Amino acid sequence: MNQTLLRSRIIHFRDDVTGSPDTALEYIEDGVIGFADGRITLLEDARRAERQGLDLSTAEHRPEALVTSGFIDAHVHAPQLGVMGSYGEKLLDWLHKYTFPTELQFADEQISQQNAEFFIDALLNCGTTSAMVFTTSFAHSTEHLFQAAERAGMRLIAGKVLMDRNAPDGLLDTPERALHESAALIEKWHGRGRLGYAVTPRFAGTSSRAQLSVAGQLLRDYPDLWMQTHLSENLEEIAWTASLFPEASDYLNTYERFGLHGARSIYAHCIHLSGSEQQRLADAGASVAFCPSSNLFLGSGLLKLQKLRERNIPVALATDVGAGTSLCQLRSMGEAYKVCQLRDYPLCAADAFYMTTLGAARALHQEKHIGNLMPGKEADLLLLNGNREPLLRERLRHCRNIREELFAYMTIGDERTIERTYVAGKLARKVEGVHADPGHRAPQDRASAAALAG
Ligand code: GUN
Ligand code: ZN
Repeated sequence: MNQTLLRSRIIHFRDDVTGSPDTALEYIEDGVIGFADGRITLLEDARRAERQGLDLSTAEHRPEALVTSGFIDAHVHAPQLGVMGSYGEKLLDWLHKYTFPTELQFADEQISQQNAEFFIDALLNCGTTSAMVFTTSFAHSTEHLFQAAERAGMRLIAGKVLMDRNAPDGLLDTPERALHESAALIEKWHGRGRLGYAVTPRFAGTSSRAQLSVAGQLLRDYPDLWMQTHLSENLEEIAWTASLFPEASDYLNTYERFGLHGARSIYAHCIHLSGSEQQRLADAGASVAFCPSSNLFLGSGLLKLQKLRERNIPVALATDVGAGTSLCQLRSMGEAYKVCQLRDYPLCAADAFYMTTLGAARALHQEKHIGNLMPGKEADLLLLNGNREPLLRERLRHCRNIREELFAYMTIGDERTIERTYVAGKLARKVEGVHADPGHRAPQDRASAAALAG
């Protein structure tokens, strides 16, 4: 076994931060992590491991850096990199003016293929090792994305977008095409290596009833698929959806009526849900993708995270690029903090990191594979280094403990903070780091999660 050993400060989650703050977060100030054949083989206090016979001289020693699990992006659109930062519109006009025209370009297979490679690289550069992804309504764009993710060895869930009305003709499929193209992609890609398939109706407003029925049929035919869509993002969208589905009792019910509602359903946004809709999400065990960057950029509204928490609805953090303005989940965490501040619910750093790692893995039913650094899990991990960027480095000099340090990463840090990304144990990104910095010493307190949550 050719084991890679990294001795560093290490932080990850053993459990749900919101449920058990005392034991959830583990911070090892002088830790050693080992990985081989794509999996984590060792996670231990370095001195204890040495006493048990480990030869630490073979480990790379990075005491000033911080190892954490790879970030998971629970909702992102691969074809929308060219839409990011498009001015002046709210959701429905933004879709028509910028997004649909950009997705139309993916009719060209070369554009689609190049974008898929670029997108996967961009995720890895930001420390995102796993994602749940929308492609376009062109089946080949899903094919290209899976190919690129497979080459990178990434754990990724994606699906061809289903849309057969209320968008430009060139983007529309039909219920029949939705069925056949999705089934072919599922047969080829679902469960292949680290890849999985999500049935992906764009949102209720761009699918006919016949197409939503097809989506429900796919989920019945293949019960271990995921389902991803958008829900309750924008007030105008909600009113429009109600006018298209007068028979539905509310927005969520447009999906429920077709069986698009279950434990493997992930709904993006969920900003304006009624209490009844929240409760039905909880009862189904469905998850919410919290997209703060997107919600602020499009002026969609402020998620009521506290209300979802009160009902134990799993929430995962997401960029929602291209409405979101960055693929970097550290930036999403900072935006999530601001959204929660405006709801008088100060989001602590442990909570934000949890929603991007173990919490996201749980929400996406991937916990047995990824989400933390327990031995046996797939070796998706990051080396964070706050010394590479002068302003962050200066802020870190004033941090008194790991709680303050994590909070600095999520509010001031960004993709430059990610020095390395490992995917299944393979180095997928490495930038030259500024290493030992005498100005910034590793925090000395062995922070308990209670301290972090405080
Ligand atoms: N609702 C339907 N499609 C989209 C999309 O592409 N982005 C966002 N933010 N919301 C949507
Ligand atoms: Zn989206």
